[in-house]
Amino acid sequence: MMKNSTLQVYNTIDLSFDHGDGVYLYTEDGTRYLDFTSGIGVTCLGHSHPALVSALTEQAGKLWHCSNLFKIKGQESVAKKITDHSFAEKVFFCNSGAEAIEAGIKALRRYFYTNGKKKKNKIICVKNAFHGRTYAAISASGQSRMLEGFLPALNGFEQVEFNNIDAINKKIDHNTAGILIETIQGEGGITPANKKYLRDLNDIAKEKDLLLFFDEVQCGVGRTGKFLAVEWVKSLKPNIVSIAKGIGGGFPLGALLLDKKVSKTMTPGSHGSTFGGNPLGMAVADVVLNYVLKEDFLDHIRYVGYNLREKLKEKIIAKYPDLVTGVRGVGLMVGLVAKENNEKLIRLMRKQRLLTVKAGMNVIRMLPPLTLEMKHVDEAIEKIDKAFSEFNHE
Ligand SMILES: Cc1ncc(COP(=O)(O)O)c(C=O)c1O
Repeated sequence: MMKNSTLQVYNTIDLSFDHGDGVYLYTEDGTRYLDFTSGIGVTCLGHSHPALVSALTEQAGKLWHCSNLFKIKGQESVAKKITDHSFAEKVFFCNSGAEAIEAGIKALRRYFYTNGKKKKNKIICVKNAFHGRTYAAISASGQSRMLEGFLPALNGFEQVEFNNIDAINKKIDHNTAGILIETIQGEGGITPANKKYLRDLNDIAKEKDLLLFFDEVQCGVGRTGKFLAVEWVKSLKPNIVSIAKGIGGGFPLGALLLDKKVSKTMTPGSHGSTFGGNPLGMAVADVVLNYVLKEDFLDHIRYVGYNLREKLKEKIIAKYPDLVTGVRGVGLMVGLVAKENNEKLIRLMRKQRLLTVKAGMNVIRMLPPLTLEMKHVDEAIEKIDKAFSEFNHE
């Protein structure tokens, strides 16, 4: 047997791909898979999108890296596109979701420090959350399966039940600095924060002088049919939002969006990144933003997402009530709820050449490219129907 030299931290599936095209992935022998994972919400414009390929290759021929010691062409225009279309006053670029979370936690605490409230540093988080794998991220999530073997965790994070405003209220004291939640929990099972809960958080933050930090690493960048998922609640005033995944369209890129008062406290020397905001990342982000900031593209995401959920209800849940019980999500962030275990169903779908990914204990997560069309929805429904019809024969 061949020696495995890669650190085995993933439960890797024995399947690999040679190339991708739009919503499809191809193995070396040409077998085609319909990709409803997008590399877990990353390749938002599909695989090998011509505009992304040409932006990246053109930039690669000019300049890859020069450091934030110098002005990086593209950073200002990408940041301006984001600030023109969001609550944000400033944007910090990094390379991943966890790095955006780290930067956000630092900014949250720094705001109170700068304003003379050094003890106001406690962050309330929620159970079942996922913010990445760095120490701050696993400490914020507080999940024992992620912390196992890595204790002590970092101080200053407390977890309460998600979507429960009383639980948050009970935890707040004079040292509470802010609240960190995913606007829609991804890994935890595609669970949106209720609109009322978000409005209440807004009121509490105002009343108690807290900052609101939303993790939109998975649900941001057009995934829900809005550029940011927080936009679904008009009155909501975030102070900090982290994005990553989709913003690079497949290139490693993350960003932290900050409002005016928080951004003022992040002064030169307070944070940084060698690779963050490099010319290659900026070239692809510019292309992604040309899509995900356009209302007709967002409209398309809402339309296709709605129809995907409706067809899942009509053609799958109604036909297989013993296997799946419901569907949830927003836009093209969709969770099909399995009655028991999701793993066998995901495997059966993969046998029909449809790729999905699990979330929580019993959710089949679907994060297709945002360029998905109705014909692909029909193709997926056919594959799921076939897959589930095999359930008792396997
Ligand atoms: C909501 C959320 N936050 C943070 C992260 C961490 O992102 P990364 O893996 O790029 O560090 C993820 C990754 O899945 C995520 O879904």
